[in-house]
This record gives sequence, structure tokens and C-alpha cells, in this order.
Amino acid sequence: MRLKAVVVTVLLAAAISYYVYTPLPDAIQEPWKLMLVDAGFRTCINLVGLKNQLGLDHYITWFRHSLEGSFSTLTALWGSAPPAGVVPGVKVSDVAFAGIPVRVYEPPAGGEGHLRRGLMYFHGGGWALGSAKMGAYDKMSRMISDELNTVVVSVEYRLFPEVHFPEPFLDCAAAAKHFLSPEVLAKYAVDPERVAVSGDSAGGNLAAAVAQEISTDESMSVKFSVQALIYPVLQALDFNTPSYVQNRNMPVLPRPLMVQFWLQYLGADTSLQAQLVANNHSALQHSALTPELRSRLDWTSLLTEKFKKGHAPVVVDRGARGLLKTVPGFLDARSSPLLAGPEVLAKCPRTYILTCEFDVLRDDGLMYARRLRDAGVSVASDYYPDGFHGCLSFTSWPLDFDVGRRAMRGYINWLQKNL
Ligand SMILES: *[C@@H]1O[C@H](CO)[C@@H](O)[C@H](O)[C@H]1NC(C)=O
Repeated sequence: MRLKAVVVTVLLAAAISYYVYTPLPDAIQEPWKLMLVDAGFRTCINLVGLKNQLGLDHYITWFRHSLEGSFSTLTALWGSAPPAGVVPGVKVSDVAFAGIPVRVYEPPAGGEGHLRRGLMYFHGGGWALGSAKMGAYDKMSRMISDELNTVVVSVEYRLFPEVHFPEPFLDCAAAAKHFLSPEVLAKYAVDPERVAVSGDSAGGNLAAAVAQEISTDESMSVKFSVQALIYPVLQALDFNTPSYVQNRNMPVLPRPLMVQFWLQYLGADTSLQAQLVANNHSALQHSALTPELRSRLDWTSLLTEKFKKGHAPVVVDRGARGLLKTVPGFLDARSSPLLAGPEVLAKCPRTYILTCEFDVLRDDGLMYARRLRDAGVSVASDYYPDGFHGCLSFTSWPLDFDVGRRAMRGYINWLQKNL
């Protein structure tokens, strides 16, 4: 009997290690922790697939609920202080800006006579997941509000599957215009010269797109003074940049998942995934994709040798026909800010861009930094050689990473000096 129990235990342990183990680059510190995060994420996605097959619910909606649920369960389980206890002085209210739900964080100091800074934040999650209320985002907003004496407005833009592009962008732009109106800034005692727009991942995409929109809107008397983009998504035409190729299997955002998020966002059929991974959608035969547009995301000229590392561009002669016509979002700078022309970029505010080596989106961020600089914008490009996608969301025990804490510190320090 004892022997049987031992055998079963050993086999079970082996099966679990096999499931959890993912080969990771040597530069990743705390690899087992990242493998565990990844295994948890994969389990959710697998369960979602199962549920989807049974046709019980739309899988994204279900996944979103379980993600939010598990975050609050984790918080309860590990007995971390309730959110209100993290930063006691910050006042939190859930209101609507131009009909869009937002969560406003007001710092303890200020009001009465002296003005505070302002920051509008768009959370990440592939335009399909996440919420301003989720543990990591809520904690970050409270911290920034308190430490930087800033009124933080975290936007609950609508997500897939309820809506797709351009709706999430329009929600964010409407909330931004409302916040930047002189009456609203006055109501919250925010200095109109010190308002930032920021976001991570898909939220970084929305922040970059909204910054372009506001910068070029002549009717806006107050504009954002800085934009801070954390591993932003910036283009959907080349899924074979050196970072997409190098990190195609990297947790927590492998290339197929990012491609799926894009297809969902643009309202396209997710069965097109293989075509996009092959760059068939941006084949040379598409006349709408002019040489000028191509040059705006040509990594062979926009990246330095250090990041090209001997990779070869994937340019297809003839690929999927009609894709760019049936999915016009592919060529829209509101979905792909990297496609904007130099005249638009020149109007953008001072910029901070955070990139990570182990992230399919590294080169999106590096190319945007280079193009903004070429257009005359002052850009701080903060690159983490040991960072991975999403690391800023992992700064609390037990899922905390040293690189996540360093990256968070770097981002807040930049805001402290530049906002
Ligand atoms: C890319 O397009 C070519 C030409 O239409 C086709 O032969 C090939 O199968 C496509 N690749 C994928 C992965 O769909």
C-alpha cells in the first residue's frame, strides 16, 4: 500500500512538473515563478476552450469573470490588506466621464488653492480582458495618486466581445476629452499644464492613439503634456519583427495569442491567425499598403543592430487577397499608432516608452520611440534586458518579480520628474 502511494505521488509530481515546465531564456530571473504564472494562465485558457466547446458561454466573458474572481480570491486567501488599506488617504469614486465609466483616485493633499497633476490610465488585456478595478491596476493607481499627488482617472472602456474597433478607442477618446475640459480639470483641481495619458499593452495602444487624436484636434484648448507607454501594442502588419520571432512562445503573451487579440479587436475572423503569422495579410501585392506606409514600420531601418540580431524580414509577394479591404482597421492609425505620419508624430507630447527584451511587442515600442524622436519629440526609452511582457502587473507577493518592481519604480520616477 505504502509503495503504491509513493509511486502515485512521484508520478503525479512528474506530471505536474511536466505541465508547469516551460523552457525560458537564462536572462529571466525567478524562472519557476514565471512558469507557475504561465501554467495558471494556460490552465484558464484551456478551461475556457473546454467551456467554449461545450458551447456554454462566450469564452472571453467567462475568462474575464474568472480572472477578476481569482484576483479577489487570491487577495482574500493571502490576507493582503484590503485595497483601501494600501493607501488610506486616497479617495476613490466610480463615476462616468461622457457616459464612460471611470474610477477616479484623488490624492489626500490638494484641492483648496493648489493644483494637482492629472493622469488618465487605460489598462491592458488585449482589448478583451482586465479592468481598472483589478488588483494590480487598482494598487498602481492608488500608489501613483498618493506618491505623485496626482488625480488618476482609470477608464473602463468597453471590451471584446461586446464591442470591437473603433469602439474601445472612441470610449477612451471621449473620456479623455471630458477630462481635459477646463471645467472638469477645475472641478478636480488639476493643473492643465500637467496631465498625462498612459497605459500598458493594449492600454498603451489606446494611450498612444488617444494622444495622437488629442494632439491633432484643433478644438482642444488643453492637451496632454506627456504620454507614458508601457510595452504598447502599436501595429498589426508585421508579426515577424525580431521580437515577434524571438519571443513567439514566450509567456505570458506568445505570438498566437497576440494575433488572436488583434483579430478580435479588428472584428475579423480568428481563423485567419495562420495567415497573419505568415505576414500574408501585408503581402506586396496590396496596393493600399504603400511603400510610404511600409517604411513607417520597417524594422530593418528603424531598429539598431543590437535588436536586429541577424533576423531577416518576412515579406510575402502574394498572400491573402482582399484582407486589407475587408478589415480596414489594419491600416488605421487609430488602431495602429505606428502608422501615423511624421506630421502627426511631431505634435505628440513628451514621451516615455517602456520595453522588455522578452516580449513580442519589444520592437513595436522601440520603433515608435525612434520615429517620435525623428519627428522631433523628446523621448525616454526605458529598456529592460531581463523584462517580460506584463511584468509591471507582478509586484505583489506571492507573484512578485524583481524586474516588475524595478520597472514600476522606473516608470513612476519618470513621471515624478517629467509630469
Ligand atoms: C499565404 O498565402 C499563400 C498564397 O495565397 C498561400 O499559398 C499560403 O498557404 C498562405 N499561408 C498561410 C499560412 O495561410
